[in-house]
Amino acid sequence: MSAKKVLVTYATRYGTTGEIAEEIGAVLTGAGLDTDIIPVMEVAGIDAYDAVVIGSPLYMGKILVEAREFCEQYKPYLEGKWIAVFVNGISLCSQGTDTEPPMLAAIDAMAPYVSIAEKAIFGGRLSMKGLSEADMQLATIAGAREGDYLNMDDLRAWAKGIVQTVTDL
Ligand SMILES: Cc1cc2nc3c(=O)[nH]c(=O)nc-3n(C[C@H](O)[C@H](O)[C@H](O)COP(=O)(O)O)c2cc1C
Repeated sequence: MSAKKVLVTYATRYGTTGEIAEEIGAVLTGAGLDTDIIPVMEVAGIDAYDAVVIGSPLYMGKILVEAREFCEQYKPYLEGKWIAVFVNGISLCSQGTDTEPPMLAAIDAMAPYVSIAEKAIFGGRLSMKGLSEADMQLATIAGAREGDYLNMDDLRAWAKGIVQTVTDL
């Protein structure tokens, strides 16, 4: 039997979600799955894939519009495929508040278009250096704190956890 084909696709503003997607893709490839890692804006078709992993960062509590539009655009083709979604952000590491429910809720913006089998949330990364003027202002107003909350072990563990499910599709 040929290896299952997986698309790991992602939206990003500053590259962190791309890094996460690459790491997830590396785990899936290492486990024998035939994996492509492609930004949402560059995906040309999804017929060939058995499973699709979609990733987005959170900005002001929401997924990026490109990630939602990918789901909208490919809705008919995503039907029947096994779909996982991950989001990342810095709020996961905020002290003293239960930040997981709102992060998971942000994924629901995709729900009208796709049937999601698996959801994940990861810590992200924020550096004020290199932000657009608008993002800098928003981050300052929101009181966002710079930091690298990316935990490669977490996302590798999650990726390992979906290997068997995708292999058995
Ligand atoms: C203006 C702004 C708003 C943000 N809003 C959120 C948010 O609502 N929740 C969150 O968890 N992280 C938030 N973040 C952090 C980003 O989600 C995080 O830096 C992410 O890893 C960036 O991914 P990217 O480089 O792929 O765009 C925000 C960052 C900026 C600059």
